[in-house]
Amino acid sequence: MDRIRIKGGNKIEGIIPISGAKNAALPLMASSLLTEEPLTLSNVPNLEDIRTLADLLEQHGVFVERHLDKAEITFTACEITNTRAPYDLVRKMRASVLVLGPILSRFGKAKVSLPGGCAIGTRPIDLHLKALELLGADIVLEGGYVLASAPCGLKGADITFPFVSVGATENIMMAATLADGETRLINAAREPEIIDLAACLTAMGASIDGIGSDTLVIQGRKLLGGARHTVMPDRIETGTYAMAAAATGGDVLLKGAQPEHLVAVTDKLTESGAVITEIPGENGGVRIACQRGGLVGVDVMTEPFPGFPTDLQAQFMALLSLSDGASMITEQIFENRFMHVPELMRMGANINLHGGSAMVRGVKALTGAPVMATDLRASVSLVIAGLAAEGETLVSRVYHLDRGYECLEKKLASCGAEIERIED
Ligand code: EPZ
Repeated sequence: MDRIRIKGGNKIEGIIPISGAKNAALPLMASSLLTEEPLTLSNVPNLEDIRTLADLLEQHGVFVERHLDKAEITFTACEITNTRAPYDLVRKMRASVLVLGPILSRFGKAKVSLPGGCAIGTRPIDLHLKALELLGADIVLEGGYVLASAPCGLKGADITFPFVSVGATENIMMAATLADGETRLINAAREPEIIDLAACLTAMGASIDGIGSDTLVIQGRKLLGGARHTVMPDRIETGTYAMAAAATGGDVLLKGAQPEHLVAVTDKLTESGAVITEIPGENGGVRIACQRGGLVGVDVMTEPFPGFPTDLQAQFMALLSLSDGASMITEQIFENRFMHVPELMRMGANINLHGGSAMVRGVKALTGAPVMATDLRASVSLVIAGLAAEGETLVSRVYHLDRGYECLEKKLASCGAEIERIED
């Protein structure tokens, strides 16, 4: 298994181009199942999770044409040979469950493996299933699979989510585009990735009102058509590199980043001592600069958008480990998203966990160590800690990073980091 070796201490300085967003690309890919015409996505990041979903779509019978030189993929689902999503692929990546809504609404039946638990929490899909039942589907759980059927098609309904779920909003929004009549999704997620998906569905002929709000009103159509769509820039990748720059006392331009997607994050970074500038224009983005040793502790709580994202909690903790003073970090989205804490502590961080909160008391310096993590964002938080630490850090289980960060070592090395992949 590959590892990443980092010699810490260098400032991250330069320009980092931001890739297309993994968490936007995945539902967009699933939406190709809603039409027999081609859907072409550009700015698709070259990542393991994208390959996993492309494999799943191919096994359903979708024709996948990859133009990797252009970061473009065309999906044509004119014929679906198989409406079953097998355990082997779904367990690799939970977002695979996003094929359920589109397959069910277009073909009247689907058999999708239950994803099972994962490192950051139990992550059930009960909201997805209850909402599909409200749209008229018959749902049976059998042998670890969801068997969903709606032989006469789905019917529009009012659905109030008891709490905000990104995946359930995406799955049900897609299903509702081909349902008979009007569907209202109340307490829907408002993440920018939902807006991106809604824009693509609209280009495919769907009728969706309230995009960007917590109430989406969808008028079902008989058919959707093909479209071309550019995947939005990755706000979590942007925040990750912003934190790497701040933790090392660096200065980076995150090219192509959209500042309006990151207000809660840039507010917290500013509060902790970084200087953020929006650079307009084609070559613009977000610039972040910070004095070495200039960070102060701040409190942060993860929340659905527009709040501070759970997907940046681990990275922010790495940075706050080096701040002056104490910070309270409260994780409200996932019950087990502190797996990076013991590893950060092995590097010298001073962190106390109390249930869903972590009290971080800043230290003067972290020291490099061999570390490993159990999920994507926890792994990258250790990379940030390693970049800022004294000495050498070896991060193992790099496959987590390959799921969600395109060219991570290359991007950081081009900004002065001493970082390399060791292939075993
Ligand atoms: C999406 O996951 C993201 N994944 C996650 O990113 C992100 O952390 C999460 O949203 C929250 O922002 C993708 O977009 C592919 P949820 P999702 O449904 O949709 C509970 C990363 O690192 N819940 O909004 O699965 C759930 O357990 C990943 O890139 C239910 O109880 O998240 C969680 O506690 C990790 N029942 C909360 O809701 C359900 O039916 C929010 O989950 C659905 C969710």
